[in-house]
This record gives sequence, C-alpha cells and structure tokens, in this order.
Amino acid sequence: MKNILVTGGAGFIGSNFVIYLLDKYDDYNIVVYDKLTYAGNLDNLLDVSDDPRYAFVRGDICDPVAVEEVIQQYEIDTIVNFAAETHVDRSIMNPDAFIQTGVYGTYVLLEAARRLGLERYHQISTDEVYGHIPSGYSSVETDKLDPRSPYAASKASGDLLVNSYFITYDLPVTITRGSNNIGPYQYPEKVLPLFTTNALDGLPLPVYGDGRQMREYQYVVDHCEAIDLVLHKGQLGEAYNIGTGVEMENLEMVEIILDTLGQPRDLIHHVKDREGHDRRYSLNIDKIRGLGWEPTHSPAEAVAKTARWYRDNEWWWRKIKEGDFKEYYEKQYGHRWQNA
Ligand code: NAD
Ligand code: TYD
Repeated sequence: MKNILVTGGAGFIGSNFVIYLLDKYDDYNIVVYDKLTYAGNLDNLLDVSDDPRYAFVRGDICDPVAVEEVIQQYEIDTIVNFAAETHVDRSIMNPDAFIQTGVYGTYVLLEAARRLGLERYHQISTDEVYGHIPSGYSSVETDKLDPRSPYAASKASGDLLVNSYFITYDLPVTITRGSNNIGPYQYPEKVLPLFTTNALDGLPLPVYGDGRQMREYQYVVDHCEAIDLVLHKGQLGEAYNIGTGVEMENLEMVEIILDTLGQPRDLIHHVKDREGHDRRYSLNIDKIRGLGWEPTHSPAEAVAKTARWYRDNEWWWRKIKEGDFKEYYEKQYGHRWQNA
C-alpha cells in the first residue's frame, strides 16, 4: 500500500481520514477524488493542502473514464471509498443521488479496481444497514442487512456489491460499518453540528419526536484509527463494526451540548418526527477489538469535545450556514415547527 485514492475525501470523515493518514505515515501518497457536492469542502483539507504527498482531483465516482484515469495517472494501488450522499432526511426528500452514488458509483469503483488489479478496495459503510435494533441486542457483522431508509438501503446495496466482487472475482476487499461519527468538519445538517451551531446563536434545537432515539456517537478520529487498522490488519472479504459499544439517547446528547456551551435547556423544541425513524442502533464491536483496537473517547467526551470545536471554529461553519443551507433548512424544518 503506497498510493491511496480516497474517494469522498473532501467530506467530513474522509478529510479527517486523510489528515490522520498523512500524519501517521511518511511514505503514503494520498489522492482525494471528490465531486464536491454541497457536502464536499476543501476548507476541511486546508491543513494538508501544501503537503507534497497530497493531491486533489475533482470528479464523480459514477464516471468510469475519469475514475480509471485518476487511478492510472497516480498509480493508485488502494481505494478507500467514503463517497456517498449521507443525510437520511435528504434521502427521504429525494433519494435519486443516493442510489446513483451509493449503488452505481460503488459498482464503478469496484469494476475499476478489478480491471486494473488493485491491491485493495475498502468500503466505508454504516451501522444503519442493520436497521432498527431492539433494546438488549447489538448487531454483529453476520446479521442480515435490514435497511429502512433510502440512505441505509443505498449503503447496504454497496456492501452487497462489494461482497459479490470478493466472491465472484476474488477482489481483495474489506468493509467497515461505523456508528454515528461526530467531530470537526461535519456539515451542519447532521444533528451535532446543527444543534451546536443553533445553540451558539441562541436558536431552537429541533428534536425529532420524543428525543429518546438512541445512537452510538463516536469521535471521528477514533473511527479513522479503526479504518486504518482494518486496512492493514483486516481479513479480506470481511466486514468490521466500528463504534463504542455504548449508545446514548438524543436528549442526553442535547443536554451535554447545552451544558458545554452554557446555554439554557429551553432551547430544546420537540418537532414532528422523521418518517420511518430508526429508534436505536447498537453495534457489537468485539471483532474490531480482536484486532487490538479500543475507542479513545466515550460518547459523552466525544459530544463535549465536538461542541467545543464548533464553538472555537466559527470561521468554518458560519459561511456554510449563511449559504444554500438556509434554503435547505427552511424546506426541511419549516413544516416541522408548525407541527411541533
Ligand atoms: P459527507 O456527506 O460529509 O461527505 C461525502 C463526500 O462525498 C463529500 O465530500 C461529497 O462531495 C463526496 N461525494 C458525494 N457524491 C460523490 C460522487 N458521486 N463522486 C465523488 N464524490 C462524491 O459524508 P461523511 O459523513 O463524511 O460520510 C463518509 C462516508 O462514511 C459515507 O460513505 C457514509 O455513508 C459513511 N458513514 C458516515 C457516518 C456518519 O456518521 N457521518 C457513519 C458511518 C458511515
Ligand atoms: P443524524 O445526524 O441525521 O444521523 P442519523 O439519522 O443518520 O443517525 O441524526 C442523529 C439523530 O438525531 C437521529 O436520531 C435523528 C436525530 N435528529 C433530530 O432529533 N433532529 C434533527 O434536526 C436531526 C438532523 C436529527
């Protein structure tokens, strides 16, 4: 492994992963290949933009010619695929791009990896492929995939394609399924940055339904460390869950944000719930633990640390929230306030 193509590397987790790899390894070259959708942002990569081991190429993973070109030009031996449409609420409003990128785009990358004989294809997946998990149970990697939103279904389809390339063509693949990531550079449509930046502006926090849904919030750098471990020590053809093993109710997460920022609880506003909202995700992480990994941050530490980052980095989020985001926010939340 020497020349790594990080697709979707200008997004939240991808950019954290690029920064992590360049810091850890002296001898890796990283090419970020990203379409720069609304969620892609080169500000996320400013810290590495002058690094001679890093290059950026704007492109779509659904474009087979451009994908093969970038692989050949940079002598890529490994693909780590973060590229996806990632927000459940947007997938409910308009699933099309989710299916294009998550299903067809994954196929294009797999096909390029097969035709050009790459050393490794790694797929970044999510705990949402397992669907809602009843209390008392945590998902293991061999569980049946049971996605319930168009986003989760597009990700599960990607996993199935990856697995099929392992079985049919012997392509050297691995998959990681991460729980909810939080940390620097997350687009403020997702709950942590949305609630934190709203709270900093003294605006209401739109909690869906009763707020008792459970998520396994993990610090993004912990996730990156575990992906790196699977890339180096994971068994080919296998999937690995990555999380904390500890879930948290959304209301508890909200209270930690408000306490960290010294803002009042009356910013909490219960609004109309998301359609088909999965109430609980929970991962069994014994398999990744077996490779010698433990998360560094507890979910509570991760939430507080993330809230402090947005408090201290208004330069990053203010311009996003003042741009096209406003239109999205009105479309997504306008009716929710009325039905609160
Ligand atoms: P993000 O939305 O912040 O970033 C996605 C990136 O992909 C953006 O830079 C975007 O421009 C790029 N992209 C989208 N479509 C593309 C295309 N067709 N071609 C090239 N680039 C394209 O997402 P994220 O939160 O960083 O998630 C990254 C990956 O991790 C996704 O595959 C997601 O499903 C998975 N994941 C996310 C979480 C989470 O909590 N955020 C948890 C588990 C897994
Ligand atoms: P989100 O960050 O969208 O991630 P996902 O739905 O993929 O897990 O949402 C995390 C949780 O927060 C989820 O239970 C939905 C809830 N949520 C709200 O209560 N209000 C909001 O405005 C958003 C965006 C999410």
